Amino acid sequence: MKILMLGSPGAGKGTQAQWIAKKYGIAHISTGDILRVNIKNETELGKKAKIYMDQGLLVPDDLICDLVINRIFHLDVVNGYVLDGFPRTLSQAEVLTAALDQSDVKVDHVIYIEVPDAKIVNRMSGRRVCLVCGATYHVKYNPPKVEDKCDICGGVLILRDDDKPETVRKRLDIYHAQMHTLIDYYNAASILVKVDGTKDIDKVFQDIVKILGV
Ligand code: AP5
Repeated sequence: MKILMLGSPGAGKGTQAQWIAKKYGIAHISTGDILRVNIKNETELGKKAKIYMDQGLLVPDDLICDLVINRIFHLDVVNGYVLDGFPRTLSQAEVLTAALDQSDVKVDHVIYIEVPDAKIVNRMSGRRVCLVCGATYHVKYNPPKVEDKCDICGGVLILRDDDKPETVRKRLDIYHAQMHTLIDYYNAASILVKVDGTKDIDKVFQDIVKILGV
């Protein structure tokens, strides 16, 4: 099964992608997580990406497209994947489609999680992420069992650098400038389904499972 997650920053793409990957035994590929690992390891990619990410800007396509295309053809995605954070622009979607077409592979579902901007800034300030495995929590809506400690790997939970309110607003502006063309693109392919992301996390997940099937 090959799934794409679309939605604004903080809509819940990462949270739902983790749950989907676990339930269906498929890989969770998050471009944000891949970039953050590169920043932490101070790779060349990480150093370049950090300049854009800290400002809430998109990382240029030449840094991200090859990385994702190589990743989705890696051996560990034999059962499929849920791609979280890619594509974000029409050009990224076209690169993805072209790469999949070459291998005669199709995306099965595009899940678009809708949440109004007014809810997003509040969500972001309460988000905590694991420095080690990238798992996502929320201090109120999805707290870890032990404060500031990851349930999965025991890693330290931190507030992301780009979750400051002013950076979140910038990320939302960029999202709105790009997303409607992307939504039109996948609507035209009749594979996009909207999900109400304002419900509780487990209710959103139930709605997604209904779409994906058991
Ligand atoms: P990335 O890490 O992908 O950030 P994003 O898309 O902005 O999305 P977020 O991770 O902020 O939110 P999410 O939708 O995953 O929400 P989450 O589940 O965490 O990218 C970061 C940066 O990397 C980008 O700004 C860009 O610079 C760069 N980048 C990445 N991909 C790129 C690409 N393809 N091209 C160019 N640049 C790229 O949930 C948020 C919080 O809300 C959590 O605390 C969660 O617990 C909570 N929550 C989730 N669902 C609910 C709910 N239903 N109710 C209440 N709380 C909820």
